Amino acid sequence: MNKRSIRHADFDGKTVLVRVDFNVPKRGQVISDDSRIRAALPTLSLLSRGGAKVVICSHFGRPAGQVIEEMSLQPVRKRLSEILNKPILDAGGPNGEHPPKIVSQLDPGEFALLENLRFESGEEENNEHFSKYLASLADLYVNDAFGAAHRAHASTTGVAKYIPAYAGLLMEREIAMLGRSLEGSTGATVAIIGGSKVSDKIQVLRHLSKKVDTILIGGGMVAAFYMAQKNSGGATVVTDADLSAAEHLLNAGGAKVVLPSDVLTAVEFSKSSPATVWESNDVPDDSLILDIGPRSSKNYAQIISLAERIIWNGPMGVFEWPTFSNGTVAVANAVASNMNATSVIGGGSTAEVVSSLDLVDKITHVSTGGGASLEFLEGKTLPGVAALDDAT
Ligand code: 3PG
Repeated sequence: MNKRSIRHADFDGKTVLVRVDFNVPKRGQVISDDSRIRAALPTLSLLSRGGAKVVICSHFGRPAGQVIEEMSLQPVRKRLSEILNKPILDAGGPNGEHPPKIVSQLDPGEFALLENLRFESGEEENNEHFSKYLASLADLYVNDAFGAAHRAHASTTGVAKYIPAYAGLLMEREIAMLGRSLEGSTGATVAIIGGSKVSDKIQVLRHLSKKVDTILIGGGMVAAFYMAQKNSGGATVVTDADLSAAEHLLNAGGAKVVLPSDVLTAVEFSKSSPATVWESNDVPDDSLILDIGPRSSKNYAQIISLAERIIWNGPMGVFEWPTFSNGTVAVANAVASNMNATSVIGGGSTAEVVSSLDLVDKITHVSTGGGASLEFLEGKTLPGVAALDDAT
């Protein structure tokens, strides 16, 4: 990444505005997964140890410019303070007279957290006024919010126009690891792509098809591929856009596209629905495809075991329901067991899968980005990265 890195910045005694992605999953007011908070720690600690006055900012949820109490960052502030074992001052705001007062009280090494940036409409509008306001709080800006780098908002792009702008350590690692998964020069590269709608993933499939050797397909999108091969897709809803996306990929040349040779189906979309295994050319019209079948799981695991680079985005079936989770579990175990491969997981629900199976430590890199990692794998330039100062 040809961008200025925080590793080369002099921030001793300076006030640094750090954009992180603390949009963490919560059940009620309880944070159910703090991975995104922990992922920001290397940057926050580096700044604090180096004598910076650290002003942290993030969005949470989609309050659309309104102050919504349940979307306050206070639970995140508490958790971050526990993890760092340091006070995190409540800077309030995220706009107005209060934040500058709190920021002015910071000593080197100390932290403050602004309130949810999306409580202010200027954030998502990326307006000049709010961008300048954010810049006025600090001497330097660091973007460590890879998960929000696909958004062109005041705190991810606008602010970078007004003060020196650096990439944080997480941002650097995400770009390096996701980039490496696509650009390595040797070895078999396998992409595993699941999810319900092929039209949602067609951009990523197209891009990967030019970059990898083999693409393994799973999830509800299998139905569209079966139909593109003139087989039945069962009762799964396949739109014209899904069908033409599947046809396009099968005829595109490039990577070898592997479909499941058998699938697990149910007549109702329900956790307790009995499952039946069908061959790929035999799926009954009244059945929904809810997982890849046992023979396909073995075949996919075998292909994964021989890969030297693995990219995975999207579960193979309805992973949340035990009856339909076996394909996803088999793939997760195969990725984790291949210790010779560089394995990269593209965030979102796939990150939740490996975390729930306690396999995170066996994966080379689990991205903190959902939409951002997908857009990166589509080959798009992320605005939050593009806005940073170029390395000299
Ligand atoms: C995410 O969770 O993917 C990021 O925090 C971005 O959130 P958004 O989709 O609401 O912009």
